[in-house]
Amino acid sequence: MRLRGKVAIVTGSGSGIGLATAELFACEGARLVIADVDPQLGKCVEVGILERGGDALFVLTDVAREEDVKRMAAATASRYGKVDILVNSAGIAVAGNALQISEEVWEHCMAVNLKGVWLCSKHVIPLMGTEGGGIINIASTHPFRAQSNYFPYAVAKGGLLALSSSLAVDFGPRHIRVNSVCPGFIDTPMNHELLSKLKESPERYEEFLAAHPLRCLGEAEDVAHACVFLASDESRFVTGATLIVDGGRTVYGHFFGDMIPS
Ligand SMILES: NC(=O)c1ccc[n+]([C@@H]2O[C@H](COP(=O)([O-])OP(=O)(O)OC[C@H]3O[C@@H](n4cnc5c(N)ncnc54)[C@H](O)[C@@H]3O)[C@@H](O)[C@H]2O)c1
Repeated sequence: MRLRGKVAIVTGSGSGIGLATAELFACEGARLVIADVDPQLGKCVEVGILERGGDALFVLTDVAREEDVKRMAAATASRYGKVDILVNSAGIAVAGNALQISEEVWEHCMAVNLKGVWLCSKHVIPLMGTEGGGIINIASTHPFRAQSNYFPYAVAKGGLLALSSSLAVDFGPRHIRVNSVCPGFIDTPMNHELLSKLKESPERYEEFLAAHPLRCLGEAEDVAHACVFLASDESRFVTGATLIVDGGRTVYGHFFGDMIPS
């Protein structure tokens, strides 16, 4: 077991990438805090891990609200006494170009996708002991390869990469490693509507697959495996890094229309 004895908080672990990561971490021996804004999803993940013999605590958390994050950190400290790993996966997809979105939409996108990561880091880092810890931020490939009409999302995820670098530099001397994982298009509930629209046209779907050198879409588990590496001691000399998990789409010169976010 690669994470035996470690305490991990995974935000957004009610669904998708966060869920797969929490479940894989539990299989690897970690004790989990499931921090999600959706009470049904979060409770269900907690129960599932407990039923399989793991250790998990669900804490209802809106990462965009500092009071919630403080409460989540306090609940973690009281249950486990420390934190080794924080995975910031809570996020929302926000569409629209710079002229279309309102100030409210911009602020909501930044609050969940960017400020939430800062708040969680701010209140969780003090719970990491002298041996340090690891923070893994789930960013995106948007900062490297812009998709049209995903302006606020791309800006937030670009900011998240800068946030990760900054934390890596400031907290490296305390043995806290901070890395980003940038998933490409992953088949999760976030993308289900888009994917079913895409599949309505078999030619267009095939064309989309062909935009990936590996000729397939990613699963949440593909991202979760990258997170296990970054959370484990195997990556003890890795910090400030950005790991792209996208089937090769970012480095491929293939053009695919203008409507697929990742
Ligand atoms: N699916 C993809 O293709 C893809 C690609 C690149 C990056 N990402 C990023 O990966 C992360 C996870 O995405 P996903 O595909 O698993 O999405 P998802 O919608 O399946 O899961 C997101 C989870 O975050 C939770 N959440 C949303 N707002 C929250 C808040 N304010 N506080 C706490 N929890 C909140 C939701 O309840 C849900 O459980 C996101 O940060 C997303 O931007 C996803």
